[in-house]
Amino acid sequence: MGKLISGKEVSTSIRAKIKEEAQKLRDDYGIQPGLAVILVGNDPASQIYVRNKQKACEEVGFHAFEYRLNENSTQEQLLDLIGVLNKDNKVHGILVQLPLPDHIDPQTVINTISPEKDVDAFHPINVGKIMLGDYEFLPCTPAGVMELIDSTGVEISGKNCVVIGRSNIVGKPMAMLLLHRNATVTICHSRTKNLAEVCAGADILVSAVGKAHFITADMVKEGAMVIDVGMNHDENGKLCGDVEFSTVEPRASYITPVPGGVGPMTITMLMKNTLRAAELKCTKSAK
Ligand code: GUN
Repeated sequence: MGKLISGKEVSTSIRAKIKEEAQKLRDDYGIQPGLAVILVGNDPASQIYVRNKQKACEEVGFHAFEYRLNENSTQEQLLDLIGVLNKDNKVHGILVQLPLPDHIDPQTVINTISPEKDVDAFHPINVGKIMLGDYEFLPCTPAGVMELIDSTGVEISGKNCVVIGRSNIVGKPMAMLLLHRNATVTICHSRTKNLAEVCAGADILVSAVGKAHFITADMVKEGAMVIDVGMNHDENGKLCGDVEFSTVEPRASYITPVPGGVGPMTITMLMKNTLRAAELKCTKSAK
C-alpha cells in the first residue's frame, strides 16, 4: 500500500512559514509582498487558477493585483501593461496566466517581464540560471514536486528518476532539479520507445502527460514513488491525474493524490517566489 503524500498538508506548513516571513518584511522594512496576475481572455480553467492565486495571496498577507484584459487585446497592450508593472515598486512578482490567445506570442511576453519579477521562472535568464544551478526562483510545479519528495525523507541521490513530459514549464526543469540532487534522470516523451519498460525502472516516477489513466500498474516498479502532475477529467468529468490510482497505489511506496497532491504545491511555490522577490528588493535597497 502506497503512503499518500498530502500536498495539502505540506502546503499548509510552508504557507504558514511564508506568512510569518511576510509579516517580518512588513515589520522590518514596511514592505508588503505584491503579486500582479494578468489574465487575457475568458478561459474557464485559467479563471479558476487566477482566483486561487489571489486567495493564496490573501491567506499569506500579500497584496494581489489583478489585471483582466479581454480576448481581443493586442500583444502591444499586454507588453505595455507589463512595462508599467516592471516599474511599479509595489509589485514584486508578475505572472501572466498561460495559455494566451493565439495572436499573442507567449515567449515575447515572458521575455518582457523583468527577470527580478519573473516569479514563474520562465524568463530565459532565469531558465539559464536554473541550468547552472545558481538561481533565485524555481518554476513552481517542479519546485513543489521537490518539496513533496523531500517531505517523505526518501533520499534522491543515486536514484533512477523518470520524468514523463518535456515541457518548458514542468518536464525540462523537473529533470534539471532532480539532476542537481544527483539522481540519474531519464526524460520520456511521446516518441519514447518502450515507455512502460523505461518507467518500470524508476525509483521515482514523475508523470506530467495530461492523459487520464495513462500510468498503469505494469509501468510502476514495486516500491517506487509516484508523483502525479496531471490535471485531467475522467469519463465522468471528475478531476483526476495521469495515474490509474486504484491499480498503481498498491505497488507504490509513496503516491500523490489528485486532487490534493501537486496542485496545492504549485501555488505555494508561487507565494515563496513572490516573497523571495520582495526580500531581494529589500536587500538590494539596503546596500
Ligand atoms: N498555466 C498553467 N500553469 C501555469 C504556470 O505555472 N504559470 C503560468 N503563468 N501559467 C500557467
